[in-house]
Amino acid sequence: MSTSTPSPASLDHAQIQSVRQSIAQHGNDGWDRLWEAGVTPWETGDAQLSLKDLLESGQIDFPKSGHALIPGCGRGFDALLIASKLGLDVLAVDISPLAIDGGKK
Ligand SMILES: C[S@@+](CC[C@H](N)C(=O)[O-])C[C@H]1O[C@@H](n2cnc3c(N)ncnc32)[C@H](O)[C@@H]1O
Repeated sequence: MSTSTPSPASLDHAQIQSVRQSIAQHGNDGWDRLWEAGVTPWETGDAQLSLKDLLESGQIDFPKSGHALIPGCGRGFDALLIASKLGLDVLAVDISPLAIDGGKK
């Protein structure tokens, strides 16, 4: 059973509203605008807790070789975790060049 839950502090509702508005107003460009403005309420500076929990739980028999595609990878924390924990060859993609640049740092 999972012991980690999202921190309420991470749920900034004003920022989430800004995300919705940016995408509604600018379509796919809305994501890059959000990265540029630093409005990234999903960011924890680490892989998503739910993914960490799932990998640590051993509940799923993930492949130990092969490839993994990580769409919408942001700065790539989930991709790094999947590559390091499972040893998969990861292709991480994001529509925002700023997200990719952030992931290189
Ligand atoms: C909610 S964020 C999650 C980022 C990352 N997965 C994480 O958990 O930190 C969604 C990400 O998907 C990207 N994205 C949105 N639409 C996309 C698309 N059509 N193709 C690739 N990336 C996309 C955004 O730029 C953004 O970085």
